[in-house]
Amino acid sequence: MKASLTVLPGDGIGPEVTTQAVNVLNAVAAKFGHEFSYEEALLGGIAIDKTGNPLPPETLRTAEQSDAVLLGAVGLPKYDAATVRPEQGLLGIRKHFGLFANLRPVKAYPVLAHYAPLRPELLEGVDMLFVRELTGGMYFGERQEQGDGDTAYDTELYSVPEVERVAHVAFRAAQIRRNKVTSVDKANVLAAMRLWRRTVTKVHEDYSDVELEHALVDSCAMHLLTRPSSFDVLLASNMFGDILSDEASVLAGSLGMLPSASLGEGRFGLYEPVHGSAPDIAGQGKANPIGTILSAAMLLRYSLALEDEARAVEAAVDAVLASGARTADIAGGGQWLSTSEFAQAIIAQI
Ligand code: IPM
Ligand code: MG
Repeated sequence: MKASLTVLPGDGIGPEVTTQAVNVLNAVAAKFGHEFSYEEALLGGIAIDKTGNPLPPETLRTAEQSDAVLLGAVGLPKYDAATVRPEQGLLGIRKHFGLFANLRPVKAYPVLAHYAPLRPELLEGVDMLFVRELTGGMYFGERQEQGDGDTAYDTELYSVPEVERVAHVAFRAAQIRRNKVTSVDKANVLAAMRLWRRTVTKVHEDYSDVELEHALVDSCAMHLLTRPSSFDVLLASNMFGDILSDEASVLAGSLGMLPSASLGEGRFGLYEPVHGSAPDIAGQGKANPIGTILSAAMLLRYSLALEDEARAVEAAVDAVLASGARTADIAGGGQWLSTSEFAQAIIAQI
């Protein structure tokens, strides 16, 4: 098949990891007889540097004409306190395309278990999927941050339809996994989270084959570390999903391992690793490309419906890890391959 992809390398280690994910996609195209074309565009800090806008209209036009977007990471320390920040570009592109469902799979790799800070026996069977709401809640509610500088606020606002559509995504995902959804909220304190719980309970009526459990975010944060294998699908608001998915990355051995897919109503999607731009290690070959390469696998699966190809990439990652090859973040002080050497090993498997 033919597909046109937009690549948004972004900042920090973003360009290094997207370059390698594109190399992997090219290997898949060669092996399975596809034709992928790529268009690069600006997003984040580099877009501010070059155009003054973290999400230039040109980038949106390019993305609109493509089947899917592959993104590296955004964020640069020099913009931390600025009014125009790289992260606004990321939130803007998610919102523009209505990508309300963010899928973040987390599994523990037995070959990395000795390296994770949790006891290896706790990691057995850990395989969960976060379904994070991505275009609502506190990220997009009314906020006041300038004012007279003495007060500031953000608003957590959810509507029933916003919760319903992402809940459907979670229940449908559970049906092809282990039939369990844990819905995360803070219904004991927050009104928006009481609406969340009520709405998820209602949507659950359509899915009698799926078990639903409600969990308060604080105790859920604890249970992710004390009984991680008990979770299947975790459904969470934008804010809670952001926090808990970073926590859960510990189970996978490193934040650098985690991929994500951001989806809306159609096949179009945005694919990015869960990790950030890590400017401290940029340009040193220390970045772990697995999160981005597995995001490319999700792109093949969800936007291009190429399931066999997606599995080939995932199997190649597993095989390279099983062979003992490591990137700097998962080497535990031992020998490691550079970002491009590791990607080459994956390509050799494909
Ligand atoms: C993520 C990131 C972003 C978020 C940042 C970079 C704005 O942490 O994708 O998890 O908070 O959504
Ligand atoms: Mg995050």
